[in-house]
Amino acid sequence: MDGLQPESVVVASGRPARTADAPLNPPIVLSAPFHHGMDNRYLRVESSETIRSFEAAVGALEGGEAIAFASGMAAAAAVVEGQPTGSVAVAPAAAYGGISLLFAEQVRLGRMTVREVDITDTTATVAASTDADLIWVESPTNPLLGVADMPPIVEAAHTVGATVYVDSTFNTPLVVRPLDLGADVVMHAATKALAGHSDLLMGVLVTRSPERAEALRTRRIRTGAMPGALECYLALRGLRTLAVRMERAQANAMRLAAKLSEHPRVSRVRYPGLPSDPFHERATRLHRGYGTVISFDVDGSAEDAEAVCERVELITHATSLGGVESLIERRARYETDAAQGTPPSLLRLSVGIEHIDDLWADLSRALARR
Ligand SMILES: Cc1ncc(COP(=O)(O)O)c(C=O)c1O
Repeated sequence: MDGLQPESVVVASGRPARTADAPLNPPIVLSAPFHHGMDNRYLRVESSETIRSFEAAVGALEGGEAIAFASGMAAAAAVVEGQPTGSVAVAPAAAYGGISLLFAEQVRLGRMTVREVDITDTTATVAASTDADLIWVESPTNPLLGVADMPPIVEAAHTVGATVYVDSTFNTPLVVRPLDLGADVVMHAATKALAGHSDLLMGVLVTRSPERAEALRTRRIRTGAMPGALECYLALRGLRTLAVRMERAQANAMRLAAKLSEHPRVSRVRYPGLPSDPFHERATRLHRGYGTVISFDVDGSAEDAEAVCERVELITHATSLGGVESLIERRARYETDAAQGTPPSLLRLSVGIEHIDDLWADLSRALARR
């Protein structure tokens, strides 16, 4: 059926054909080789029904052709390491550390020139793009939650023939579809909200260009970055509830962000849903929601902020985001984040689907005690 709302697409897509006696869910295909028939039947080369079902669902959601990978980093590496030597890239100066390190490695190997920009500064991004081959956008950025103004960035990139890649992990296709805004390829760490249960690693790239999809699929074959069957099955099962999880988690995030911004021990809250947030207008214009991650600065030292993470009892002190359970951590504990200027007392809170009263009781108790 065409024209379904995303809430229905997450439920209906990526299923076997509706033929008599067929199962409703795809099989978990656990085999590397397949009996020889007409083509080269080997899992790394040909994929399987389990993998293709996940790809069909994400492709339907983002409005393109999806290629699944073993992790978010494997998906990003397929792009970054697949660029010709001498490529010029524009990339965020402050974004997920793993991606920054991936670009830095290309520079160290002498393969790429990388222009780091504040990706939320459209003028600076456009100015840096004049002779670029690729623009890497992360929006909202991890963990500062800066929102990029995608349409003018895409327009400027296409004028000079550059390709635009968007890491949309924080948003999910329920919040924005970057391909609709003109981006060439959208990337997700499916590890996070798409799968949604903190029980696997997966990545995915989606594009509307059949040639680009073919090239990325070939990269996956060359580098052996195929995801496992169980991971694909679990990710697809998790995806079925993406819409309801996002609805609840975003409502929780909005309430928590408002409460945190009134708390005496919090000096700054970053959440695009707050009318006072510098990215509120942009997110309202481009997105259908404000996401499930909040970053806030504890009024105090790094140790004071760490102590808040140690005191929570319902929320878990752990890295990652996008799962059903709320997670908190001090991001500047990581060298890459600290080097990017993440404030020492900034806590990133990935808001889950627990009851809002319990979440706030836990957080306010953890903030209250010194
Ligand atoms: C925005 C973003 N992109 C990419 C990744 C990497 O994903 P993975 O851990 O699945 O390799 C992460 C992980 O936290 C992320 O937050």
